[in-house]
Amino acid sequence: MKILTIGKGAREHALAWRISQSLQCQELFVWPGNGGTSQLGWDVSLNAERLVEDIVGLGVDYVVIGPETFLAQGLVDDLQSRGIPVFGPTKAAAQLETSKWFALEVMREAHVPRPTSFVFSNPQAAVTFAAGHGKPVVVKADGLTGGKGVWLCHTPGEVEQYANLCWELHPNKPIVVQELLKGKEVSVFCFTDGYHISSLVAACDYKRLLEGDQGPNTGGMGSYTWPHFWKKPLEEYVLEWILKPVLRSMSQKGMPFSGMLYAGLMLTKDGPKVLEFNARFGDPEAQVILPLLEGDLLEIMLACTKGRLDTVPVSWNRKRQAVGVVMVSYGYPNEYESGHPITRRNSHDSKNALVFHSSTRREGETLVTDDESGRVLTVVGMGDKLFLAREAAYSEVGKWDFPTAAWREDIASGR
Ligand code: AMP
Ligand code: GLY
Repeated sequence: MKILTIGKGAREHALAWRISQSLQCQELFVWPGNGGTSQLGWDVSLNAERLVEDIVGLGVDYVVIGPETFLAQGLVDDLQSRGIPVFGPTKAAAQLETSKWFALEVMREAHVPRPTSFVFSNPQAAVTFAAGHGKPVVVKADGLTGGKGVWLCHTPGEVEQYANLCWELHPNKPIVVQELLKGKEVSVFCFTDGYHISSLVAACDYKRLLEGDQGPNTGGMGSYTWPHFWKKPLEEYVLEWILKPVLRSMSQKGMPFSGMLYAGLMLTKDGPKVLEFNARFGDPEAQVILPLLEGDLLEIMLACTKGRLDTVPVSWNRKRQAVGVVMVSYGYPNEYESGHPITRRNSHDSKNALVFHSSTRREGETLVTDDESGRVLTVVGMGDKLFLAREAAYSEVGKWDFPTAAWREDIASGR
């Protein structure tokens, strides 16, 4: 089969890496790709303005979409209508991610544990509510915000500021005000064809720039799996009380969700509660879970698309652990330099490490930092114990060099 993967991050590099290993993958195209994916397949140049036509022109048999923006614009629907099968949910089903209000409605119908939430049709209504509420709340914009649409507010003044910001980001869209929960966070993933559901995998990510979870939010500074608290009873609970009811509700609404469903949970003292759903693999979680996937990723994806996930077993290696450290350009998420050469000190590949590229490009033989984003590499270490995976990751980080490299030292350290 001729496969096209869409996206340019380390998540898409990890996807392309696993897809390229499939016996069914004859030819792999990547768009827009990066300095890593270009080593696995053909970089193609497609025009974002006439994407569907360009993809049809490529003559591919299957398309795998990484980022949510393409799901939100209905690329799955458009390609399906042109007879091209795709991995990922339709625009309607992707609302689980693209609309906080929609996701809350589905959770309400499906009796899924979630924070107490209030939805307002304008900022003033949210402010009036917050003034009388007297407790800290979380304000969320309805719509894609690239991870920048959620604010923890401790005063009515903050609610006012951020409710107004929601309105600026997504005018006339609902504003969600939610109980502020406390607890550990975990990302849980399953493949689904809308009716069948795979075994689950869980990972933790690090969103803040600096050690000790300080500093601004980022696109992710690291991740690991398996979390020590991810035990069978918790997994059973998440499957039976969160994922299955949501999928059932989606198919009852006539919008079955097919693809990768990602639940962002908080483990509160009253049990797990859903903070958000995403309609795709997480980044940087994909970089640590995909190395632990047993079997053929492409075969699993095709089964999701065909509605036959019941015919393909999906299992995750429970005996291996993986730790991912994101190397960024100093200054990220604000101003940073790009165009610097990236080198690796030792030419021998490490047995227990993998490196996934994001903002890199090739200039002839030279790999350089790109200006696409400040996140440059995700370095993943693996081992039979988490501390071994961690050692493998940081040992590999030490081999890579670019003048502006920065990373967190505390990924999976338990601190
Ligand atoms: P979301 O995009 O809804 O997952 O929110 C992004 C981040 O905001 C989460 O990973 C949490 O750290 C935090 N967050 C979201 N909702 C809540 C909540 N109800 N209580 C506490 N923290 C939250
Ligand atoms: N790891 C967070 C996300 O992918 O949205």
